[in-house]
Amino acid sequence: MISASESISEDDTDSAELSAYEKAGLEGKDPRCIPIKLDAPLPVGDAIVTPEYTPEQHKIWSFLSRRQHEVLPGRACEVFLRGLKQLDLPLDQIPSLSVLSRRLQQTAQWQICRTPGLLNEQDFFEALSRRVFPSTDYIREDHELDYTPAPDCFHDIFGHLPMITAPDFADFYQMYGQASLRATGANRRKLERFHWFTVEFGLILEDGQPRIYGNGIASSYRETFHALGDEVERRPFDPEGMAAQEYEVWHLQPILYVVESFEQLKQGFKDWAGGQLGLL
Ligand SMILES: [Fe+2]
Repeated sequence: MISASESISEDDTDSAELSAYEKAGLEGKDPRCIPIKLDAPLPVGDAIVTPEYTPEQHKIWSFLSRRQHEVLPGRACEVFLRGLKQLDLPLDQIPSLSVLSRRLQQTAQWQICRTPGLLNEQDFFEALSRRVFPSTDYIREDHELDYTPAPDCFHDIFGHLPMITAPDFADFYQMYGQASLRATGANRRKLERFHWFTVEFGLILEDGQPRIYGNGIASSYRETFHALGDEVERRPFDPEGMAAQEYEVWHLQPILYVVESFEQLKQGFKDWAGGQLGLL
């Protein structure tokens, strides 16, 4: 049985060292956004027990997945759309993590572990470095269809998994986990921001046009339109710039970064994290 406890308290942390989620947790915004620490290993692959979902919960999945399937073609990048097809996610019911883990193992040599909520960074990076993606298995409530700052299985499965089926991205993501495990202090914050502006909110150029690959956009109806619209400042890929750029998790993102290719993302990360930061 996994038990979780709050990983931080105001007494034992220096706020300059906290991630945006951790700061938000301290400000009492949403308890589901407070990263948790584990005292037992998470179940991986076939060891994950699928919960008994209610018809209402399946309905929420169905609404969200049908809506995103409608709006993503022409807006999400080809790699994301191909991954979505490859995963063959059910439209009308919440998929089983153990079944998806088997599929991911075959396509990308990654597995899934089931997390009870937002994981603390150490456990999250450790899992990524072993090619294991931590996913929640609960779904948001029906008043959160358009926006939830907390992780849920629609974000984790529909948003994250398609990109992990792509070899270049899968290798980059493992490398990201390895570098982050070695990072401390200011470098941790730099890598956390890098993650936000790539994995969570990244755009890529396709035929000269920005397309979505970040899962925070791909799993959000409002961000899907907002990210490609006029109100967003889109900047070229720049690891050091991203690492210095503050963000907040509570509203639509005003600044996004655009890579030219996933090769640029992988190589750019390797050069920056390995060279400048000395973490690879
Ligand atoms: Fe995410």
